[in-house]
Amino acid sequence: MKILLLGSGGREHAMAWKMAQSEMVENLYVLPGNDGMALLPKVSTLFGSVTDIPLILKTSKELGIDLVVIGPENPLSEGVTDALEEKGVKVFGPSRQAAQLESSKVFSKNFMVEYDIPTAKALSFDNYDEAKAAMEKWDITQGIVIKADELAAGKGVVVTKDRVEAEKTLFDFMKNPDCTVKTKRVLLEEMLTGKEVSAFAICDGENFISLGYACDYKRVGNGDTGPNTGGMGGYSPKNWPSDTTKSFIEEKVFKTVLRGMKEMGMPFKGILFAGLMVEGDNPKVIEFNVRLGDPETQILLPLVAGDLVPTLYSAAQGKLSELGSQAIKLKNETSVHIVMTSGGYPSTDGTKMDLGNTIDYPQELLPNEVGASRNNYMFLAGAKKNEAGDLVNSGGRVLGVTALASELEGARKLAYETLKDVSFKGAHWRTDIGL
Ligand code: AMP
Ligand code: GLY
Repeated sequence: MKILLLGSGGREHAMAWKMAQSEMVENLYVLPGNDGMALLPKVSTLFGSVTDIPLILKTSKELGIDLVVIGPENPLSEGVTDALEEKGVKVFGPSRQAAQLESSKVFSKNFMVEYDIPTAKALSFDNYDEAKAAMEKWDITQGIVIKADELAAGKGVVVTKDRVEAEKTLFDFMKNPDCTVKTKRVLLEEMLTGKEVSAFAICDGENFISLGYACDYKRVGNGDTGPNTGGMGGYSPKNWPSDTTKSFIEEKVFKTVLRGMKEMGMPFKGILFAGLMVEGDNPKVIEFNVRLGDPETQILLPLVAGDLVPTLYSAAQGKLSELGSQAIKLKNETSVHIVMTSGGYPSTDGTKMDLGNTIDYPQELLPNEVGASRNNYMFLAGAKKNEAGDLVNSGGRVLGVTALASELEGARKLAYETLKDVSFKGAHWRTDIGL
């Protein structure tokens, strides 16, 4: 079969690597892809944008694509799935309506309340003065979370116990023309405490298969210091959350979302990614995403034993229940992933990033052989080949290294050991991932 994958980051490099291993796959096209993926057998990269619907329709038709797999959130919230399915192309990814679980925090919160999915208590406002009045009555010593309704690339959430910061955030989000986050609606939310974990499920509209759990590190610096980033690395926890918590998540979160979305006439198909706060055996949903995470994908896909494609293809057709022994299984191992970023990243204060530097790395680390069985891999994101054919850094998050082992400590050691052989000028990474 022929697959078209949309996206270009480390997440899509890991997806392409995993899917290219499938015996079912003859050709895998990635739009726009990156120079790491281009090294994979069966893989070709295509020019274009992941939200260019006419181009994606034309490409799918011309290449005779059997399945489109969507990496990032924008094409989902812009209706790429709907446009393709209207033309009879099979897609692994939710419709525009179903993608509201991620694209609208207010939709998502209302849905959770309606279906009794455990989550933080929240109030929503589309009027600044009313939000401000509610904030004045808030017991700030318990903390407050302010969330912009729209997609804001991770910048639309502030958690604070400081009244001045809370009020400034509300003003910035709703009134300040100079703020990069702009929203007509905000949520004011109870601050949850506990330990964060993300749970992933492959869904077909009615049923799901678990893709495992991951913990990520969002701040740029060791010990969770410095500004937020897209993610500096993470690991798949072993023996946590407890089996009780996991069963609760499967019943009260995944099954309930599938039932609720179906009842509402927008069945959920694709990846459901639940960000959770767990205290004891009590998980609460912080947010939903409707796609794989970056770098969670680079943590989770190396832990999938065997072929991923039959599961994605069945899910796209609403047929997970017919998969039988072809359904994915997860290895009884754990993995650690460490991201290397360009100097200056995340440049929230306007710092210029140090780009265009040659990346030194052992060739065998790039997963270029289909099915090559290694315990460590490098996935590329903001990296490209220059005219001389050298790999140079071209974005904030440049690359990441994943290592597998039977226990976390072993995976962590191997990941850092592997990273020693990778270098470029200005490179930054955290040294406490998985500690
Ligand atoms: P979100 O964009 O909703 O994932 O929020 C970003 C981050 O803010 C989460 O990963 C949490 O660390 C934090 N956060 C969001 N909502 C809450 C909450 N209600 N209580 C505590 N932390 C939160
Ligand atoms: N790593 C968080 C995300 O992909 O949303």
